[in-house]
Amino acid sequence: MHVLALVNQKGGCGKTTAAVNFAASLAAKGRRVLIVDLDPQAHATMALGWAPNDEPILLEVLQGESGLDEAIVTAPGGFWLLPASEDLAEFEEAAARMVSPESVLTEALAHCQTEFDEVVLDCPPRVDGVLALNALRACDTALLVVETGAFALQGAIKALQILDELQLELDTPFETRMLATLFDRRTKFARELLLAMHMRFEGEMLDTVIRTSVRLREAAAMGVPVQQLDPSCRASDDFDALAEEWLALREAIKFEEAAPEAQSALLRSSLQRSGSIENLKEWGASSEPLHTHFPPAP
Ligand SMILES: Nc1ncnc2c1ncn2[C@@H]1O[C@H](COP(=O)(O)OP(=O)(O)OP(=O)(O)O)[C@@H](O)[C@H]1O
Ligand SMILES: [Mg+2]
Repeated sequence: MHVLALVNQKGGCGKTTAAVNFAASLAAKGRRVLIVDLDPQAHATMALGWAPNDEPILLEVLQGESGLDEAIVTAPGGFWLLPASEDLAEFEEAAARMVSPESVLTEALAHCQTEFDEVVLDCPPRVDGVLALNALRACDTALLVVETGAFALQGAIKALQILDELQLELDTPFETRMLATLFDRRTKFARELLLAMHMRFEGEMLDTVIRTSVRLREAAAMGVPVQQLDPSCRASDDFDALAEEWLALREAIKFEEAAPEAQSALLRSSLQRSGSIENLKEWGASSEPLHTHFPPAP
């Protein structure tokens, strides 16, 4: 079972949208997927058409009042959801009376190790709160979701620093990857920014980029993943590509565990094979000089 936490302390950068549709694409590829909504805003829950009722939610699981099995519901698209509601905010207060409150999700997920292949954690925008700490403690990969807008590079550098600090504090060995979202290829700024991000965060950036698509907003409003609303739109294509890249990366990592030196070459060749890096370099080279200041690479 792989556990992936979608994080960024910046609000509105596309974490929930990515979590919901990534989960749906992984499910469409035959993976058994659970999405856990760790945000009291409950946007992932709403985006999957689930409305609060008297049934237990993640709050009860975290407080030890309900088993995972009782709280998990089915989501449209052939996967499972551990829902949230605004009541989840109560966990911050309850946590003050608990020993190791940041470990309760890890303990709960240990009971479903064999039931799911992938667990996707949708984090709230506050990365140092106890809910996000639960996600970071439970995950093996933190996926930093970065909107390709103004100050994205600076924000990503700061976010990576915070993740490093939390990794040390939690003493938990997750890897970090980055996903660019809300990408508008028509604007020169976004193209150059994406190129700069690839240059700066070479090994961490995923090759797949999620483009802006009104279909994603429509799907969320309808309470279904975008693949159900329009399986042939560009957003569906992007999330399918993301799931494919993710599963290939997993295979590569598995391979590395057997032969450590082989992995970086394998990842590099898979990035080069896709051709996207070359495209980005071309776009960057053909455009006017960039007027934004980007921090230098280390
Ligand atoms: N690729 C995209 N194309 C178009 N709209 C998008 C895209 N990704 C996200 N959005 C829209 O942007 C808004 C914010 O997205 P989302 O809720 O996924 O961000 P978030 O990071 O989860 O926010 P929060 O930090 O509040 O949890 C939503 O209205 C969503 O529909
Ligand atoms: Mg969200």
